[in-house]
Amino acid sequence: MKRLGTSLGTYVLSSPLIAAAGTVGSIVEFADVIDFSLYGAATTKSVAPEPWPGREPPRIAPGEMGMLNSIGIQNTGIDVWAESMATELAGIPTKVWGSVVAHDIEGFGEVARRMADVGVSAIEVNLSCPNLDGTPFALDPLLSRDVVRCVRDAVSLPIGAKLSSDAEPITAVASAVQGAGADWVVVANTVMAARIDPVTRRPVLSGLIGGYSGAPIRPITLRSVLQVARDLPDLPIVGCGGVSQAGHVVEYLLAGAAAVAIGSAHFKTPRVARKITRDLERYIRRHELSGVAELIGAYEPW
Ligand SMILES: Cc1cc2nc3c(=O)[nH]c(=O)nc-3n(C[C@H](O)[C@H](O)[C@H](O)COP(=O)(O)O)c2cc1C
Repeated sequence: MKRLGTSLGTYVLSSPLIAAAGTVGSIVEFADVIDFSLYGAATTKSVAPEPWPGREPPRIAPGEMGMLNSIGIQNTGIDVWAESMATELAGIPTKVWGSVVAHDIEGFGEVARRMADVGVSAIEVNLSCPNLDGTPFALDPLLSRDVVRCVRDAVSLPIGAKLSSDAEPITAVASAVQGAGADWVVVANTVMAARIDPVTRRPVLSGLIGGYSGAPIRPITLRSVLQVARDLPDLPIVGCGGVSQAGHVVEYLLAGAAAVAIGSAHFKTPRVARKITRDLERYIRRHELSGVAELIGAYEPW
């Protein structure tokens, strides 16, 4: 349906829905369950230059409201990824964004180059994983700039930079990555958080601090989207955080996002995009809109 079409600058999407990194596995392993043609793009789990084992268990803790994770980006590394995806990518019925991660700046460029060779449609630079040792790149505008510049030099594909609502101010990081050549920003990754079990007195995650996702982070992430949209009106935004219904997608579009990623909702309802798409189409008809693009940044100020 054309009225769901949107774009991130000149990069055209058939739907504003994006499958968020790490919540649909390698994409290939979910292709029998999830109809990826309902998404404008699907993002791979982040891939590093070499295999990473991830953190020790426990590394997932469902809460009363959202979930905490400290997976630590367990992944096979780019060699295995490239070999397994080379033949599979063409069968995915939407654009595939390759999510890159590394411990050092050069590593991001190396993985991006290899993913481009395999044929991904765009590169998502994961600057914001809260589960690695040290401070996430996304909290530092200069480091974030250097990473994106390295990826920009490595590939000619469109680049999205995945930021963190923990950055203060997030607009400084958004501005830095835009200057370094990012075509859009993904706002945002999980929010850094922790819990301790009062019975065992142990942190619920072995890594102590992890990433919080799901419904409770939606207002936080929405605040970040509003700030980036206000300060950098020319920088396209993918909103990401706590989306499980069409109304949430509309909320992000109104705040200034041009596309909206669905993450943790896939764990409870893998086919969640089907109902969201139907309800979005209904919303467009009911409000007599020409399409979702009409909603971008169109909230009514008081
Ligand atoms: C179990 C899990 C694994 C994740 N893995 C990745 C990852 O590999 N790369 C990445 O950029 N984000 C990763 N994320 C973050 C999500 O892509 C998304 O940004 C975040 O969960 C917020 O969206 P949500 O509230 O809709 O889940 C992961 C999130 C979860 C819950």
